[in-house]
Amino acid sequence: MSKHPQLIEFIDLIKSSFEKGTLIKISMSKVANRTDDLKMIYVNPVELKSGLKLSFKYRHATKDEVKNFSKKEALDLLEELIGNSFLQIVANTAEEEHQLLINKKGKAKHITKKHKIALKTLNHDKEKNYLIKSENNIYLKELGICDTNGRVKDKQQDKFRQINRYVELLSHWFEKIDPTKKLNIVDMGSGKGYLTFALYDYLKNHLGINVSITGVELRKNLVDLCTKISSDCHFKDLKFISKDIRDFTAEEIDVIIALHACDTATDLAIYQGIKAEAKLIVCAPCCHKQVRKDMGKKSQFKALTKHGIFEERQAEMLTDTIRSLLMEREGFNTKVFEFISNEHTQKNVMMIGHHTNSKKDREKINNEVKQLKEAFNVQRHELEDLLG
Ligand SMILES: C[S@@+](CC[C@H](N)C(=O)[O-])C[C@H]1O[C@@H](n2cnc3c(N)ncnc32)[C@H](O)[C@@H]1O
Repeated sequence: MSKHPQLIEFIDLIKSSFEKGTLIKISMSKVANRTDDLKMIYVNPVELKSGLKLSFKYRHATKDEVKNFSKKEALDLLEELIGNSFLQIVANTAEEEHQLLINKKGKAKHITKKHKIALKTLNHDKEKNYLIKSENNIYLKELGICDTNGRVKDKQQDKFRQINRYVELLSHWFEKIDPTKKLNIVDMGSGKGYLTFALYDYLKNHLGINVSITGVELRKNLVDLCTKISSDCHFKDLKFISKDIRDFTAEEIDVIIALHACDTATDLAIYQGIKAEAKLIVCAPCCHKQVRKDMGKKSQFKALTKHGIFEERQAEMLTDTIRSLLMEREGFNTKVFEFISNEHTQKNVMMIGHHTNSKKDREKINNEVKQLKEAFNVQRHELEDLLG
C-alpha cells in the first residue's frame, strides 16, 4: 500500500530534526496488529562512545527492552514501524510537538503544536552562541572533544566550554593590538593544543587577523599529534615544536601564552615574554610548588598555612602576586581574574599583562616583593631570579 503524503512528511520531519540535533523524543503507541505484548516504543537520541545513536525502548507488558541503532538503521526502522505497526506517533522536537494519527485505511492526520519555551536538546541549543562551533570541526574531532557528527561528547562539555570562554576572553585583548601587522603568538607548554587550535581558528579564520602561532611543548608525541592535526586542517601558520620553553628563541614575539604550564614553566614563559618585549602575556598558572616548598617553616603567618588546602592557596596567591608585581615592574599593566567558573576547573585564575610605556617605581615594587618573601620566609622566586 502506498504511503499517505502526511505520513511521508512526518518521517521527513523526524529525519531533518534528527540531523539538526533538535529531535528530543518520539513515542509510538496504538499498536496496529497485536501479535505480542509490545505496547509502545519510545525513541530518543543518545550520545554513546561509538557516536550518536537512536535508542529504542520497547515497552512490553512486563518489561522494557532497549536497543540502540545508527541513524540509517533507526530511520529505516521508523519508516517500517510508523503506519504499519503503530498508529499514533508523537515526536517532540526542541520547538514543536508533532502528532500523527493514522486510521485503519492508512489515512494520516498531522497536528503540530509549538512549545511555549524551546525544550533542551542534547547540546546544540547551548552551542549556538559559541565562537568555536563543533560542527565540521576537524581539530575538535581529532582531539576527541566531539564525535564524527560534530556533537560535543558528554565528558568533554567542560573542556568545550573552557575553550570557548578562553577564545571569547582573549578576543577582546587582541583588539588592543595593531591589526595591520602580522601577529606572532607563542603558546608555551601547549600540551594537546586544544586552546592553541581554537585561538588560531578564531583569529585567522573568523576575524581574518594575519597571525602565526607556535606551540612550544616538551613532549614530542603531543607535538607530532598537533602537527598532524594542523596539517589536516590546512592551518599553515600554526606550528608546534618540541622544545623546552627555556631554550625557545624567536625573532619577534607579540603575544606569549602559557596556560596551565606546570609550576616554574609559567615563570619561564613570563620571562620569555618580558625579554622579547611582548605586547601581551597571558597565563593561567598551574601548580605553585617552588614557592610552596619554602613557605611556612619560619613564616610570620605560620598559622595561615597550617592546613594543606590553605597552604596551597597561600602559595598560589604569593607566587602569582609576586609574578604580577614583577610584570608591573617591567612595564606591564596586569589583571588577575577567574576566567571560568571553578565548578569546571580549579585552575581558573588568569593573569594578563599588557605592555604599556608607563614608568613604574621599580624600587617600591622591589621592596614590596622583598617584604612578601620575608613575611612568608620564602628564599627565592623563580621569575625574580630569571629576571636577575
Ligand atoms: C597542564 S599542560 C597544559 C597544556 C595546555 N596549555 C592546556 O592548557 O591545555 C602543561 C604542558 O606544559 C608542558 N611543559 C611543562 N614544562 C615545560 C617546559 N619547560 N617546556 C615546554 N613545555 C613544558 C607539559 O609537557 C604539558 O604538556
